Amino acid sequence: MSHIPYETLRPLLKDQRILLIGGAGFIGHNLALELANMGSKVMIADNLMINSLIENTFEAEKDKVQRMAYQGFLLERFHLLRKSGVALKNCDARHLADLGRIFEEFEPTKVVHLSAIASAVDAKAEPGLCFDLQLITLRNTLELIRPRTDKINQVMFMSSSTVYGDFEGDSVDETTFPRPEGIYANAKFMGERLIRTYRTQYGLGTTVIRPSALYGERCISRRVSQMFIENALTGKPLLLEGGGDGKLDFTYIKDLVQGQVRALALHKSPEDSNTFNLTFGNARTIADLAGVVKSVVPDAILEERPRAVDKPIRGTLSTDRAKTILGFEPEWTLETGYKDYCQWYVDAWEKAKRKNNEDY
Ligand SMILES: NC(=O)c1ccc[n+]([C@@H]2O[C@H](COP(=O)([O-])OP(=O)(O)OC[C@H]3O[C@@H](n4cnc5c(N)ncnc54)[C@H](O)[C@@H]3O)[C@@H](O)[C@H]2O)c1
Repeated sequence: MSHIPYETLRPLLKDQRILLIGGAGFIGHNLALELANMGSKVMIADNLMINSLIENTFEAEKDKVQRMAYQGFLLERFHLLRKSGVALKNCDARHLADLGRIFEEFEPTKVVHLSAIASAVDAKAEPGLCFDLQLITLRNTLELIRPRTDKINQVMFMSSSTVYGDFEGDSVDETTFPRPEGIYANAKFMGERLIRTYRTQYGLGTTVIRPSALYGERCISRRVSQMFIENALTGKPLLLEGGGDGKLDFTYIKDLVQGQVRALALHKSPEDSNTFNLTFGNARTIADLAGVVKSVVPDAILEERPRAVDKPIRGTLSTDRAKTILGFEPEWTLETGYKDYCQWYVDAWEKAKRKNNEDY
């Protein structure tokens, strides 16, 4: 394990111009804010088509408080980005010309690719769109970087822990052979292969990141970590399949962003190209997650359900490689990070309720 003090990364990022494709989303806006804080010039290219203000304002099935809350989260993202000097451009990365204009205007030195349908369930419902948003946008990104490798020294690709498929033991590391299942995981794996091919054949500097089960402020992706606290606040049960013994490597967004910042700062040449698991590094059960919600909202209702037959089998992603090479130091357990997040959610929900009463 190496100790690389975080502050020593600041000079390495100061002169970087970092373009985040699909960067207005949950991970992207948090990464943009931290990169700006570290002194980089940051631009986001996003067409706001997933988890967006439009979707949340016009989706019929959302209840009023939920709509108000999610709109608040999204507007806060914009507010924070603007305050930090991050530029946000409306751009559909499926269109080469659209994205090309951004490359010409901004002249990035590093590019982070994040655009996707960031949910395996939603991707399964729309496989063609999943393919386009992950892979057509990646094709355009790689083709725009290829003639600019003298100026752009790194492309970071946001892959996923789902590339590992069902875990055979308790934990996997980056040498575990991927066995992705389903359209989302396979598109991620194809993305990884494409990135590696551009590295070996065209000399691009590349970094592949495999995160897992993220949670954190201003997320509206409705993963289990968000749905549990929201259900607790609205009197709906927290469903524990098989008693909640399924495990996930839950990771606070702050830990992921710390790792991404390290991977961007410490990558100097194509020889630094690598694949990193960036997670907390200790899988916990769904029952543990529910326990934290219950400690914040004591009235939360926990309900056991039979285990679904096709439930993916997950576990811990070893972060030893990131710890050794990047000095990655994940800090936030469920009892600290997730608890903070739940408390933040309680306040945000109350605020949305008050605003809803004023507006209607
Ligand atoms: N959140 C997680 O737990 C998690 C875990 C593993 C991997 N990832 C991956 O990380 C990346 C970011 O995830 P997220 O949670 O921030 O998702 P998100 O849905 O919050 O953000 C994705 C962003 O991509 C944008 N986008 C989609 N298509 C686009 C296009 N054609 N042009 C421009 N922008 C486009 C969307 O508008 C959205 O803002 C995704 O690739 C996702 O698959 C996320």
